Amino acid sequence: EGVGEVTIYEVGPRDGLQNEKAVVPTEVKAEFVRRLVAAGLRTVETTSFVSPRWVPQLADAGELLTDLGDLGRGRTRPVLVPNEKGLDRALEHGVGAVAIFGSATESFAQRNLGRSLAESVQMFAPVVRRSLDADLWVRAYVSMCFGDPWEGPVPVTQVADACESLMDLGCHQLSLGDTIGTGTAGHVEALLSELDRRGIGVERIGVHFHDTYGQALANTLTALRAGVRVVDASTGGLGGCPYAKSATGNLATEDLLWALRGLGIETGVDLEALVETSVWMADQLGRPAPSRVVRALSGT
Ligand code: HMG
Ligand code: MG
Repeated sequence: EGVGEVTIYEVGPRDGLQNEKAVVPTEVKAEFVRRLVAAGLRTVETTSFVSPRWVPQLADAGELLTDLGDLGRGRTRPVLVPNEKGLDRALEHGVGAVAIFGSATESFAQRNLGRSLAESVQMFAPVVRRSLDADLWVRAYVSMCFGDPWEGPVPVTQVADACESLMDLGCHQLSLGDTIGTGTAGHVEALLSELDRRGIGVERIGVHFHDTYGQALANTLTALRAGVRVVDASTGGLGGCPYAKSATGNLATEDLLWALRGLGIETGVDLEALVETSVWMADQLGRPAPSRVVRALSGT
């Protein structure tokens, strides 16, 4: 089977920077987004309108969007929004796309959102309704789709239940999160088939693999072969969730581009410009980029 067009959904500024110990200055975040867009990435998730007490790293979400101006608006610049307070803040800054973020497990819902699965769906419902009314694009993340640090492997039927409850709210796209990177290719196929059985087809699905166990690219290619066309990736391979122990970086955008090039898939993204951006960001963060392709191409 061939693999046609692929949409890269860049999460570096959000997933990448939410887990950094150092607080990255707003102007550095803005420069990061500008460089990613200039390199040809069309969809860039910029930040989160979450509680600043929970994620101090992204407490400057509003200032960042002000700094970005038009570059931070529109349906290809999603921001994470957990509740109505977050939506109000996001709307004040003119966002055109939001992402809610649920869980496949009770343990992670409690840790990441401070509430049960049922309560978190109740929290998201008015966010999605008001977003659709305002003509925003809405994505639903589901975390812990493969394994959970407290509960172990998560049954595909349980994951599909969580996906259904969020997609039933009317979200446009579902992103399957392998938050701690334990998923493997066979498991990816099994989950996609279960979702297909429930009427959630690959055309509405994106995949979001963290590379903790080195499986992110293999899992992504498996999803692409199954027909998925939206792939989440983070420039440099930054990323992780502060509320999931053992979560490390996302699939690196550069690693993904290297694989897609080999398949003859043109994305319009300038790989060399991304590598330069990652080297620059590594300098800001004081540690090398996790991406193997960045290290290979930059000799760092
Ligand atoms: P809570 O404590 O239940 O909320 O948090 P609350 O309503 O009790 O409010 C507590 C305080 O936060 C109050 O302030 C609120 O005003 C404030 P105080 O009166 O005490 O000064 N507050 C807010 N402030 C600004 N913006 C808001 C907001 N909401 C409340 N939106 C809440 C509930 C959901 C807000 C909290 O648990 C939270 O922010 N969680 C977010 C955690 C997070 O961002 N995790 C990382 C993203 S998920 C992820 O990375 C996984 C993903 O990548 C996919 C994958 O890899 O699997 C997407
Ligand atoms: Mg993530």
